[in-house]
Formats: sequence, structure tokens, C-alpha cells
Amino acid sequence: MTALACRLTGFGAALPARRETNDDLAAHLDTSDAWIRTRTGIAARHVAVAESTSDLAIAAALEALADADVAPADLDLIVVATSTPDSACPATAARVAAALDTPAAAFDINGACTGFVHALAVASSLLGVGALGDRGDRLALVVGADRYRSLTDPADRTTTVLFGDGAGAAVLRTGDHHGAGLLGLDLRGDPDGLAALQVRPDARWLHMDGPEVFRRAVRSLVSSAGSALERAGVAAGDVDRFIPHQANVRIVDAVAGRLGIAADRVELDLVDRANTSAASIPLALHSAVRGGRLQADDRVLLGAVGAGMGAGSVLLRWPR
Ligand SMILES: CC(C)(COP(=O)(O)OP(=O)(O)OC[C@H]1O[C@@H](n2cnc3c(N)ncnc32)[C@H](O)[C@@H]1OP(=O)(O)O)[C@@H](O)C(=O)NCCC(=O)NCCS
Repeated sequence: MTALACRLTGFGAALPARRETNDDLAAHLDTSDAWIRTRTGIAARHVAVAESTSDLAIAAALEALADADVAPADLDLIVVATSTPDSACPATAARVAAALDTPAAAFDINGACTGFVHALAVASSLLGVGALGDRGDRLALVVGADRYRSLTDPADRTTTVLFGDGAGAAVLRTGDHHGAGLLGLDLRGDPDGLAALQVRPDARWLHMDGPEVFRRAVRSLVSSAGSALERAGVAAGDVDRFIPHQANVRIVDAVAGRLGIAADRVELDLVDRANTSAASIPLALHSAVRGGRLQADDRVLLGAVGAGMGAGSVLLRWPR
């Protein structure tokens, strides 16, 4: 595929105030800190009480715009990945645009835990083909925001312990910048996996077949990441930083191991956040940037998988 000259220039994160440890959950559920840690790598998560999905998205967006030194009025596009919007309409992205007072085009993408990669793919493609104007540098705000704890039955230990709430955001700028860009992309589906992870149409809570999701997630992520790398002509061993969906440390280890990416190149921040669905990758990206773990010219691989079941991967060359 043709590489798209672009760069991610600003990053934001927002987590609800309430933090819940494994022991907090074990106080009212038949579970334990040891069970959750050994099966998932998760120790704690943040849970929205007063915060709505759009509150979290707006807070992450404001940090990302300030970090990028971009005025909201200069944005061409806002894409929010979420499957837990405040309400059916308007789109969460429209709520973000209103809060920022920007006339940017704004819409949501529901790709569950894969959503941020879908959003980044759509935003970069629209900017790349000049759909929002031909000026060399166009600006998109890409946000992942979810409150999956509003979808998990508090009495169901098989789902509640795995999820947390939050939002992450990044500003995408097109235009040439010393070879920085989107080098490879893959998006795919797994229709046989639909029933493994879903809120059934007549149900209130998320239903999950954990082992089935585990198997399919590993398989899809390995295939998707492998295809994105192949399209970019980059070997897995040359990935400098792998930022996978933060669902479960065992899924991440299995995927990195099968791809041949060394453990010290994998970004892991699920220990204090759990699975934040569409927010997971932008939150981990934010951690990697703030922690100084992304360097100029690095090949950065994002890989996501989620309900549907969809998977998606993006390979970026990091800007100087
Ligand atoms: C959910 C998951 C952690 C379970 O791990 P596992 O290794 O399959 O679980 P085990 O086989 O060791 O244990 C299953 C048992 O633990 C029990 N169990 C489930 N959740 C538990 C919890 N929070 N605390 C204690 N026991 C629990 C189950 O009821 C089952 O009991 P049973 O054998 O009596 O029926 C694992 O399957 C997983 O991570 N799946 C992917 C989930 C995911 O990432 N979803 C989101 C994708 S976007």
C-alpha cells in the first residue's frame, strides 16, 4: 500500500475519579485479587460514576489539542470511537465538537474494542484522499471513549473484573514530516465470532464466552498485525514499539510471542486500567508518549481486536 504522510502530534487521556481495586471487587463478588491478576494481569480499574462518555472524551480531547498546540477551530474532522455513547443521538463526536465550539465534521464509529483503529483508519483515509480539502496539512481529532462498566452486570464476575472506563485522544496531522506516516494498515472481521462477545438485542448486560474470545482474539490480532506489517514491507522483528489492545496480559503475550516481537517492546498499561475498550489503545499510546518510550523514526504498531469480532492494525513511522 501507499504510505500516507502524516503524524500523530498531540495526546490526551481521561480516567474517571473512582478507582476500584481487585480487593474492592472481591468484597462483594466471588473472586480474588490472585485470580484476577494471574488470569488477566489487572490489579485495578477506573469506573465512571459522575462522568459520561462525552465528559471523558472532551477531557482527553482538550489535553490532546493543547499538547498539539492546535486550536479547535482549525480541526477539519472529529471521529470518536465508542460503543457506549451518552445517548443514541447526537453522536458523541458532535457533543465533543459542541464543547470545543468547532465546525469540524464530527461522527462516531462503533467498532467496540477495535474502534480506535477503525477511527484512525477512517480519519487518515479521509484526510489522505483530500475529502476535506486539498490543503497539505489537514487536522483530525481521533478519540476512543468508553464506559464498559455500564454494560457489565455488577454481579457477573466473569465480565465485571475485566473492564474499566476512560478515554484517550490523539491529533492527526497530514503532510510531509521527514518520512513520518502511516506505513501499513489492516482491517478485518470474524463473523463466526459474533456470539462470543455481545450485548444481546434483548439483554441489558454484556455476555462473553471468555475462552472463545481469547482464542479468536489471539488468532485475529496475529493475522491482522502480520498483514499490516507485510503491506508496509516491515518485519515484526523491526517493530520498535507494539501498542496492542489492553484486554489481558496473556492475550498480549501470546500475540507478541507469535509475531516475534520482544516483550520489552510491548506497551502494557492494563494493570491499573483494565480493558477500556475503544479507549485502550489511545490511553496506552498516551502512556508510551509521556513515558518517553517512542523515539523519532520508530516503527510503532497498533493492534486491536474486539466484539463483532473485528480486528485492525496500523503501522506508523514516528515523527522527529
Ligand atoms: C476470562 C478469562 C480471563 C478466563 O480465564 P481462563 O483461563 O479461561 O479461566 P479458567 O479456565 O482458569 O477458569 C474458569 C473458571 O473461573 C471462573 N471464573 C470466571 N471469572 C472469575 C473471577 N473473576 N474470579 C474467580 N473465578 C472466576 C469461571 O466461572 C470458571 O469456573 P468453572 O471452571 O467452575 O466453570 C479468559 O478466558 C480471557 O481473558 N478471555 C478473554 C476475555 C477478553 O479479553 N474479553 C474482551 C476482549 S475485547
